[in-house]
Amino acid sequence: MAISEATRGELAELAARYPRPRSAVLPMLHLVQSVEGEVTTDGIHACAEILGITPAEVTAVSTFYTMYKRKPVGTHHIGVCINTMCGLLGGDAVYAALQERLGAGHDQPTADGMFWLERIECQAACTHAPVMTVDWEFMDDVTPASAIDVIDRLERGEVVQSTRGPAIRSFAATERSLAFPDDGLADEGSSVDDKMLAGLRVARERGQAAPAIPSGQEG
Ligand code: FES
Repeated sequence: MAISEATRGELAELAARYPRPRSAVLPMLHLVQSVEGEVTTDGIHACAEILGITPAEVTAVSTFYTMYKRKPVGTHHIGVCINTMCGLLGGDAVYAALQERLGAGHDQPTADGMFWLERIECQAACTHAPVMTVDWEFMDDVTPASAIDVIDRLERGEVVQSTRGPAIRSFAATERSLAFPDDGLADEGSSVDDKMLAGLRVARERGQAAPAIPSGQEG
């Protein structure tokens, strides 16, 4: 789909936010995904033209990072972490249950195009393993049953609250937030909880502390 003038204007706005415009290629590709549902060839050419770089350079970025897709993702992106902590604590079972429920494999859409399933790597959220993401919002401590319940509720059009973020919107909406993070949603949802602070608490109880930063290297 041809990139509209309105989207071109927003892409140019992102490019203007950085001293070196090409630094904007990541948020620009998220904006393309939010509008197009995927990183399209037209989107790549628009980014390249605005940034004064080649389409090959933009393509190289878009194919390096797994968050960029070259096929339509659909309404919701479902990620299941299968790295060590999540895998050990049930992530593999969650992924298997969702694979069966959705009839889709890794990095594939469902037949109706509503969901996209992906095995994802560590989200730095191991404290609440196993973790699932819906449009990149966290669903902590999931089980096969709770993960399927999320899918059922989204299919019924119900409001689904992420564990520590805003209510689930859509892949397109999240992609726009990644392009323009100053949308006021950063403080939605719960913040740090006791489980996340357990390591700090134990360290304090044991009198442990990080080594001091040598003088002159404080940054
Ligand atoms: S291993 Fe799953 S969030 Fe870290």
